[in-house]
Amino acid sequence: MQSPFAHDRLPRVEEFYGRSRELSRINQAIHHSTNLLIHSKRRMGKSALIRHALAQQANDTLCLYADIFHITSKEGFAQALLDALASAHKGDLKSTIKKLTSLLKRVRVEPAIDPHTLEYTIRPVVATLSFEEMLADFMAGIETIAQQQRIAVAIDEFQQIATIGDVRLDALLRSHIQQHHNITWIFLGSKRHLLTSLFEYSAPLYEMATHVELPPLCLDEIEAYATRHLNIERAQIEHVYTLADGETKLLQNILHLLYLEREHPVTPESIDRALDEIIASKDTSYRMLFDTLSQNQKTALKIVGKQKRAVYNASILQEHHIKKQTLQSAIDALLGREILDRDGDRYFLPDRTLELWVERLSPV
Ligand SMILES: Nc1ncnc2c1ncn2[C@@H]1O[C@H](COP(=O)(O)OP(=O)(O)O)[C@@H](O)[C@H]1O
Ligand SMILES: [Mg+2]
Repeated sequence: MQSPFAHDRLPRVEEFYGRSRELSRINQAIHHSTNLLIHSKRRMGKSALIRHALAQQANDTLCLYADIFHITSKEGFAQALLDALASAHKGDLKSTIKKLTSLLKRVRVEPAIDPHTLEYTIRPVVATLSFEEMLADFMAGIETIAQQQRIAVAIDEFQQIATIGDVRLDALLRSHIQQHHNITWIFLGSKRHLLTSLFEYSAPLYEMATHVELPPLCLDEIEAYATRHLNIERAQIEHVYTLADGETKLLQNILHLLYLEREHPVTPESIDRALDEIIASKDTSYRMLFDTLSQNQKTALKIVGKQKRAVYNASILQEHHIKKQTLQSAIDALLGREILDRDGDRYFLPDRTLELWVERLSPV
């Protein structure tokens, strides 16, 4: 059943709430054609935010959105940009095709049926083209548009470009971004290590975008929205927020389950029941993940899940029968797989639901 609390899909316009500061930040960037890097852990709301921000732009701005999570090659990257350009044009099919045909020199466009929505869309045809030709066509195309119209290009899961080995996509992008006027680039991403290495000192994209970390939704905003749909007290909202550790997806998931039982008052017990249900529903997939770990990594995960800080204390090492060095390399492996993350001297699991699942495992 649908509820006003989206948690596994994009929120509809009327279901999106909060984020007023971030929205005005994005609007400002688009207005002044400056670039942004929006980053956070997964599931905090980056994609929802940018989709909403772009949808709110007036017609004088052409908005492109490319999710490059799935790319495995440079050609895939160029294709994603071209797809974004093709679907950014609102208007009837015929005039859009005409416009794109005049804009793109080598890429052909043809009508196609979107397998998800079953609606007509426009597909760039690139079969015979090289990566360089595709990218050049895209960049020239948006530059032509930018002479008359503001453009915003959002690239989601941007850290994926670091996984493409045969060409430095970041260096290529830099050379184009530097020449552009009237174009705002908005990069969004989550894998901290990959992303920061792309924008660190002496990397091509260093200082090419203002960094914005997306914080959790704030309590007042959650309360304002939740109380429109649920009979819930501030104290209970705080309870949900603490359990979710500020993670938007888990927070929304709990509120969604509470909404399904909205004829009953929200109590600490009903919140805990909702959380139990969510954790139970993930049990199979978390077991499969756990199964892929070595014994030492399993131990490391349990220790961090419960302990967070001072994980190398002698008493903990003793309790778990593990040597400090062994624990260290297991933790490093988990950090590398992004199952763990670190904030100063505190370790945590970026997937809050997994963290709660691990906390419930037997200690040894
Ligand atoms: N401002 C918001 N209002 C309503 N729902 C939101 C909001 N931000 C995020 N969500 C919900 O939380 C979930 C996770 O957000 P998402 O944008 O996918 O996170 P990210 O891109 O950072 O991984 C989404 O399914 C979405 O429904
Ligand atoms: Mg996302």
